Amino acid sequence: MQFFVDTAEIDAIEELAATGLLDGVTTNPSLIAKSGRDFMEVTKEICDLVDGPVSAEVVALDHDTMMKEAEVLRRIADNVCIKVPLTIDGLKTCKALTDDGTMVNVTLCFSANQALLAAKAGATFVSPFVGRHDDNGFDGMDLIRDIRQIYDNYRFETEILVASVRHVNHVLESALIGADVMTAPPAVIKALFKHVLTDKGIEGFLADWEKTGQSILK
Ligand code: E4P
Repeated sequence: MQFFVDTAEIDAIEELAATGLLDGVTTNPSLIAKSGRDFMEVTKEICDLVDGPVSAEVVALDHDTMMKEAEVLRRIADNVCIKVPLTIDGLKTCKALTDDGTMVNVTLCFSANQALLAAKAGATFVSPFVGRHDDNGFDGMDLIRDIRQIYDNYRFETEILVASVRHVNHVLESALIGADVMTAPPAVIKALFKHVLTDKGIEGFLADWEKTGQSILK
């Protein structure tokens, strides 16, 4: 499963990119607003930091303006992936862009039928929002299971990008179901490294090592 980070904070992206575990980045208008940075400028910096897809979202609602915005965004770098909402105009834009060889991430997906439409429109990625789905009394992971089954039934190549990930169990379940990608905030990705027994084990080993009076580096 590929790991994307869901942020527009350069420091956090740099830190995770240094682990070698980061396959891409997703942003959205709220994350850009939170960063306080200029959209084009910060997106360019992110694209320079990671080789994988960097999602940058259009804000227009009609197809013609979405196409114009996508044209501006895709000039930023070769690894820009245009993010469009799951609407009729969004999918029309998705079809036009992917036919032209541009990566597209169809966002704000909340049903398996919507994911079916995104795949038929040739989306590179579809982003089902599991956390927001949970918040509204549904089971976000059931949605991922259904989409996986539908995509496997018809051999769709659209990648399932699990989004709105809130905790490490969302990551675990995504991997068990066979999602292609998950995007999570930096804190959730960092939490994946943590286990109380790892910390306790290190503490014990170091205490015993101290007793030997030895050092590896002379
Ligand atoms: C995905 O691409 C979205 O940017 C993101 O995962 C939304 O997450 P949220 O529901 O925590 O805002």
